[in-house]
Amino acid sequence: MTAPDTRSARVKAGALEVEHVALELGGRSILKDASFSVAAGEFIGVLGPNGAGKTTLMRAMLGLLPLSKGTIRVNGEAVVRGNPSVGYMPQTRSGLAGRHLRGRDFVAMAADGHRWGLPRASAAARADVDRVLDLVGGRTLATRPLSELSGGERQRLLLAQCLLGDPKLLLLDEPLISLDPRHQTGVVDLVRSVQRELGITVLFSAHELNPLLNSIDRVLYLGNGRAALGTIDEVITKPVLSQLYGSPIDVMRVNGRIFVMAGDVEVDKLDHAHEDGPEGHSHSHDHDHGHDHGHDHGHAHHHTGTHSHDV
Ligand SMILES: Nc1ncnc2c1ncn2[C@@H]1O[C@H](COP(=O)(O)OP(=O)(O)O)[C@@H](O)[C@H]1O
Ligand SMILES: [Mg+2]
Repeated sequence: MTAPDTRSARVKAGALEVEHVALELGGRSILKDASFSVAAGEFIGVLGPNGAGKTTLMRAMLGLLPLSKGTIRVNGEAVVRGNPSVGYMPQTRSGLAGRHLRGRDFVAMAADGHRWGLPRASAAARADVDRVLDLVGGRTLATRPLSELSGGERQRLLLAQCLLGDPKLLLLDEPLISLDPRHQTGVVDLVRSVQRELGITVLFSAHELNPLLNSIDRVLYLGNGRAALGTIDEVITKPVLSQLYGSPIDVMRVNGRIFVMAGDVEVDKLDHAHEDGPEGHSHSHDHDHGHDHGHDHGHAHHHTGTHSHDV
């Protein structure tokens, strides 16, 4: 074993090292040959069309899916399932809105279940729950039932859950899904501030680049079985994205926002339409909880365009 990854050691390189990784699901190639490395303390936006493999890659980093090729190292060590130094917020989070559970109990549930496996919370577990509630500014949510919280407030508790046990790497899978733009900004800002305070590494996947634009250090863009990691200026370009989408892409910058266009359609909107389609498998959108989305879901666009690069 290598030296322990203490913060005082200032281990800079290798929070995450992905080398020539290929991933398959049901005999289908999802990622062909991805190599990149993320330094400790980076905040990485994970983008790419729906079905590009963002969720699959995160699951591979958690050891939930075997690699068909290559290696992934987390904090210098081979991936192992249940690694306490990796926190995970899965993409599917349906059903929370209907829960009458108090906020604190919801966070504690994860502490009891995953970390300690005890029927009753130990003092250490309770202290950890308090710690993560404080980190996300969630003490006032602790006594309220989940059913009374806004999507943004529930998202805070979900973030608190994955901070239990003090992970060094957080994998957050689409935390912005179904949130209106104001709550989206709130969630991104919160993750950014917690990430900086703790000095941890964060991978944050999203449909849209713009909500992340001012917060992320670099972007990991997936598409066409490939992965590109770099600064926004390096990755969000015509040549790189055209390769990742497998079709001509235009990049437009307007008033500090970036629009990635396939013909005259924004790719974000294509993705969103796709997610509700027949291949949407188990993903839930939480569409029906009665809050305003405030943006166009692009249901009017037909699906064929997004499937062409998906083989
Ligand atoms: N169990 C499975 N068997 C076969 N294909 C799957 C399975 N689960 C997901 N997929 C497919 O794998 C691809 C990658 O999915 P996913 O990682 O969820 O993409 P993303 O998170 O980027 O939207 C998609 O095309 C999806 O349909
Ligand atoms: Mg996904």
